[in-house]
Amino acid sequence: MGSKGQVLAALDTVSVNEAVGWAHKLDGAVAGLKLGLEFFLANGQLGYRRISATGIPIFLDLKLHDIPNTVAGAVKAIAPLQPSILTVHAGGGLAMMQAARESAAEQADKLKLKRPRIVGVTVLTSLDDKDLSAVGQTGPASDQVKRLAELTRSAGLDGIVCSPHEIEALRRDMGEEFLLVVPGVRPSGSDAGDQKRVRTPADAAKAGADYLVIGRPITQAADPRDAASRIVLEVGSALGQAAQ
Ligand code: C5P
Repeated sequence: MGSKGQVLAALDTVSVNEAVGWAHKLDGAVAGLKLGLEFFLANGQLGYRRISATGIPIFLDLKLHDIPNTVAGAVKAIAPLQPSILTVHAGGGLAMMQAARESAAEQADKLKLKRPRIVGVTVLTSLDDKDLSAVGQTGPASDQVKRLAELTRSAGLDGIVCSPHEIEALRRDMGEEFLLVVPGVRPSGSDAGDQKRVRTPADAAKAGADYLVIGRPITQAADPRDAASRIVLEVGSALGQAAQ
């Protein structure tokens, strides 16, 4: 995985067979696959290995959040799986994120494996300003996103997960090297589902997203490989045009 506008297909299912089927169909068409809590809790490391055995890079979205020692232990437990990208909640604080990064580096060194990139989840897009105020956090969500993005960078993590509408501001504030992993992306003409503030893959890539996390428009398509390839083409031509 590397460079802007890469597509990660979110395999949101508890069925290993369904996920393996998608993985085979998408092999070579996308930059990676996203497995989340739902899949991991249902199928554990064995289920994960059935998908990673295809050789496609995995974005393991577990959103770890606990005291630093426990998160370091969780990262250690996951390290042999070699996810390409792993998530932690930035709200867990500086020491927790540093512990995650140190544990990942230590295990990679010990096991002679590539270190997973770790990205911080800032503010869940399911929370609006009112929800944040209900949990004692005053001020607009965008301020909190910026604060947590800076904390994530201070902890030495590789980037953050952010909404498509935050890309420009975060790219400007955080610089070119900071990874922006972006869900809530919908190819033009496709069903938004429960995603409220969507953007097209081409728009999100041009705005500076490194990774586009796209689930249903790919997995629920009659031909998932064709759907993924079209998105990759759309992004490629948008970036090509932007570079000219
Ligand atoms: O099917 P869809 O494209 O909406 O899937 C998006 C994926 O990104 C899902 O796996 C979802 O859990 C994840 N995600 C999201 N919004 C966030 C964070 C993650 O949709 N803020």
